[in-house]
Amino acid sequence: MRKIHVGLLAGAAAAGAAAWWFGDRAPYPYAQRWLLDLPLPMLGAKQLDAVLDPRPGERILEIGPGTGLQALHVAPALGPRGGLDIVDIQQDMLDHVQRRAQDRGIDNITATRADARELPFADGCFDAVYLVTALGEIPDQHAVLGEAARVLTPQGRLVVGEFFDRHWIPRSRLRRMADSHGLRMTTHRGPSLAYLARFTAGG
Ligand SMILES: C[S@@+](CC[C@H](N)C(=O)[O-])C[C@H]1O[C@@H](n2cnc3c(N)ncnc32)[C@H](O)[C@@H]1O
Repeated sequence: MRKIHVGLLAGAAAAGAAAWWFGDRAPYPYAQRWLLDLPLPMLGAKQLDAVLDPRPGERILEIGPGTGLQALHVAPALGPRGGLDIVDIQQDMLDHVQRRAQDRGIDNITATRADARELPFADGCFDAVYLVTALGEIPDQHAVLGEAARVLTPQGRLVVGEFFDRHWIPRSRLRRMADSHGLRMTTHRGPSLAYLARFTAGG
């Protein structure tokens, strides 16, 4: 009898842990920010440059910048006539990026606290939008993709980076979701477990 009780308890605990692992959609905790500065395989600066191809003068949006690992690399590439907007649901993350940008003399980043499911920007105002290990964390990824498609210029680029963690989106699933918003995959780097994929609006 005792064995059955222990078995039931262990099963309930495992089910609870699994429900949390797969179901939790809280934003990445700021208290664990130091982990975000560790570059992930296949999602480094060189790979991002190759897939996003940021150019001087462009206006680009990053959704979910965390502590700025990608933002602090991309913003300088846009030059003084271009700029990087960053949107995050956590003000602590935005403040962190702005402090680091200031320390490095980067002055073309504009931070806005917002939910990616409802972007506070006009239609067609960005040359590119990118998210790295952020999309899977946001409940309702269709809403985010729809918003990204809306704020992109007609030939704009969307780049999504995903890594095999509990919020991972397999590349084939992302492709199907993006397709339904008129975003076509034009290139990708890395295996489905750790990839950067580029989509083009309107084509
Ligand atoms: C795992 S971190 C990724 C940070 C960074 N891109 C990197 O690779 O280091 C995900 C980020 O998405 C943000 N985020 C989560 N939900 C969001 C939402 N609904 N709208 C905007 N940002 C959100 C989190 O606050 C966090 O900064």
